[in-house]
Amino acid sequence: MNIDEALRLMPKTELHLHLEGAVDSTTFAELAAKHRLELPPHAVASDLYEYDSLADFLDVYSLVSHSIRDRDDFQRVTYECLERCVNSGARYVELFFSPESHLQVGVSYETMLEGVLQGVEDIQVDLGLVSNLVPAINRELGGYRAVEFVQMVADHRHDRIIGVGLDFNELGHPPEAFVDAFRLASQVGLHRTSHAGEVGPAQNIRTGIELLDCQRVDHGYNIVEDARLLADCAASQIPFTACPTTTTYTSAFRDLGAPDHAIRQMADAGLKLTINSDDPPMFGIDLAMEYCTLYHQMGFTPDDLKTFALNGIDAAWIDDQTKREWRSTWSNEIDGLLSQVV
Ligand code: ADE
Ligand code: ZN
Repeated sequence: MNIDEALRLMPKTELHLHLEGAVDSTTFAELAAKHRLELPPHAVASDLYEYDSLADFLDVYSLVSHSIRDRDDFQRVTYECLERCVNSGARYVELFFSPESHLQVGVSYETMLEGVLQGVEDIQVDLGLVSNLVPAINRELGGYRAVEFVQMVADHRHDRIIGVGLDFNELGHPPEAFVDAFRLASQVGLHRTSHAGEVGPAQNIRTGIELLDCQRVDHGYNIVEDARLLADCAASQIPFTACPTTTTYTSAFRDLGAPDHAIRQMADAGLKLTINSDDPPMFGIDLAMEYCTLYHQMGFTPDDLKTFALNGIDAAWIDDQTKREWRSTWSNEIDGLLSQVV
């Protein structure tokens, strides 16, 4: 087998994947037609999947979100998204979704939850993939709303809802505003992570860790501006969820082959990196392709890729016994796959 085939089959986690960013353009077109959603003039759905910046991308992300309206739609997009994870070798997924984007157009939290949970159950029965859910706070709506949001999540607890995230545009929406929301999340037993240092300064990463008590950092590329923070995070081994292709659309690091690309610098500094796909069809990739990109374009070795895959187990919000078992079985499986590469 060739290296790409081995990397696709390699067991992996997916810890940074947005449901609404995982709707392919065909499904988007069908849902938009079903709900008579008006697309921008002359737009074919697939042409909309192009962007120059995070803000540009988030406009399209919102449009796609608005095409998902009823329980069946949520079940469908969840199933399709998780099926592609299976095809990329994912064995465990923590899936972000963006309730605010649906509440905005009158979809109830109950409706979205029912559909998403059904998709999660169906994929586990059909294909054996285990997934949990992480509703994400839209930071652009501010800190006050974020507290209400976490309360809403807490009022609708389910075993599969295991944490909260913080996403949308960091610029103009720094993490300090979300201290109360994250404290509440912690009090009600939810795990915590936040997008930080993707387009905002390295300080947002430190604030996320120290003030919001985050257990992971999503993206985090601008940490390379701050040598002290880099050293602190290498020492603490707090996990980072890196998304290689996203950097080419939203970050300051657009050349994956550059020797000073942030992900390369983060790995060289000894951070605990996991590899993830963020918004795969919207960026024209899937999770396995991200591993191939690290190998072919960024100079990472098969051993590095094994380390990243196993880091995903350490970073996952699962019990220690399962972590130990997966580490041992996945490690053997990965060695077996890599030994067959010719
Ligand atoms: N929502 C989906 N993808 C995102 C990203 N890369 N940054 C911020 N919010 C997002
Ligand atoms: Zn993201």
